[in-house]
Amino acid sequence: LIPVYFDCDTGIDDTLALIYLLGRPNVEVVGIGTVSGNVDAATAARNTLDLLALAGRQEVPVAVGAHDYLTEAYAGGVPHIHGRNGVGDVVLARGGEPVDGDAADLLIALSKQYEGALQIIAVGPMTNLAVALDRDPELAGRIARVTIMGGAALAPGNLSPAAEANIGHDPEASAAVFDAAWPVTMVGLDVTMHHRLTDEQREQLAASDGELQRTIAAILDTYFNFYDGILGVRECTLHDPLAVAVATGDAIPSLAPVVKVQVETGSGPARGATVADLRGMYRGHPPVDGARHTVVLTIDDQFGPQLLDSLLA
Ligand code: BDR
Ligand code: CA
Repeated sequence: LIPVYFDCDTGIDDTLALIYLLGRPNVEVVGIGTVSGNVDAATAARNTLDLLALAGRQEVPVAVGAHDYLTEAYAGGVPHIHGRNGVGDVVLARGGEPVDGDAADLLIALSKQYEGALQIIAVGPMTNLAVALDRDPELAGRIARVTIMGGAALAPGNLSPAAEANIGHDPEASAAVFDAAWPVTMVGLDVTMHHRLTDEQREQLAASDGELQRTIAAILDTYFNFYDGILGVRECTLHDPLAVAVATGDAIPSLAPVVKVQVETGSGPARGATVADLRGMYRGHPPVDGARHTVVLTIDDQFGPQLLDSLLA
């Protein structure tokens, strides 16, 4: 089993990612940290704990992580996308309580317990990972791989014209994650926008006998309303669950060069942009250190049907 630390800002697509991850037969979710993004970190932890209880997985430890970003204060969530409470304003039965210590503490402890094997899947802003790297300079060497939903190698952003939200909320933290000596797989917005759950698939969840499935369908309603306005069709994009599927080997990229990615941390309009060296300029003379970032560019098979099957199982 692959031990996984999951970092999230739950969040509607984070909800899909969490439930999908819990269902992977080759994975043991050994800890979860939350960060402010779609909602504040404490609310994201509440949602995560409540969802774990609904899924019958209360044993998984959850730690509340960073409320503010490295250089900027958290400015509030995105109720028009994820609802006021982050889970589409669905009221969940209350689950357990977070563990003592913050998300960075939990990640560092797990990296020692599962040294060399622990994988990180991060689907919220990168702050907790950066705090952990700063707290423990040896951390990167104990991690097998980091897979992130974040950035946009070939597309505009969604937080600003240049920046995807998970990178753009905390560019300094994101730069630290790409600069650290661990292998990173980036599943960016340009890829995730093409993978959708349809309204018909959502209705299959709504018609299920399972309370978990019906609750997910209810949570998704808000997300579908938002994406209807963006896409002109009642579907939703599958950002966070697709990153999970890449990490677990369930979604196989058709194109994913290993190059160097840098994050713009300046204050201009490109703040938070991910600059991927897709032409291999840094492989030249002299070679530049840091070409260890697998940038997923295409995944041919539609992920929606696979996600639905897993959620209905
Ligand atoms: C990312 O931002 C969040 O709103 C989503 O949960 C996803 O992680 C997409 O840019
Ligand atoms: Ca997220």
